[in-house]
Amino acid sequence: MSAILPPSERLWYKHPIDRVEGTWIAIALTWCLIMFFMMIGWHIWGKQNLSTETYRTTPEKFTAKAQAVVDKFTVRTETDQKTPVVAPPAGSDVYMIARLWNFWPILELEKGKTYKLHLTSLDYNHGFSLQPANINIQVVPGFEHVVTVTPNQSGTYSVVCNEYCGINHHTMVGRIYVK
Ligand code: CUA
Repeated sequence: MSAILPPSERLWYKHPIDRVEGTWIAIALTWCLIMFFMMIGWHIWGKQNLSTETYRTTPEKFTAKAQAVVDKFTVRTETDQKTPVVAPPAGSDVYMIARLWNFWPILELEKGKTYKLHLTSLDYNHGFSLQPANINIQVVPGFEHVVTVTPNQSGTYSVVCNEYCGINHHTMVGRIYVK
């Protein structure tokens, strides 16, 4: 028999299912269901998945909120651009803006304290990749992403843009200090 001829038994799909075949279907289905519920379970009990809340915003609204926090809690400036280093109180809302081609401001957080980190982009799609913690989220213009973070290790963290955003994409880095 070859594939160009019709099957000798025309109702081939009406054969009773073979035991081996049935077993494999059952195994595959069970595994699919386990994987499906793992996705949900991992969000609740896993340690690496970030559940972000996302709201609509505008550059003006977001910048105003970020500026208010920067005005209130800047402790010093760093880098040639005089980027403010902002140390907001534990438990508060902290803001970071992604734009061509930097992250603003620099944040200084306390280890073991929980913050609500708000992120937006003022222009194009950027990425927020926190190294070496390996946290990775997209930062989309027009949206405010809110992540609840509790830094569990002190040190200097780099924020790297991992969405290609133009000629100076490779220079787009930011910083978060954890004390
Ligand atoms: Cu921003 Cu690449």
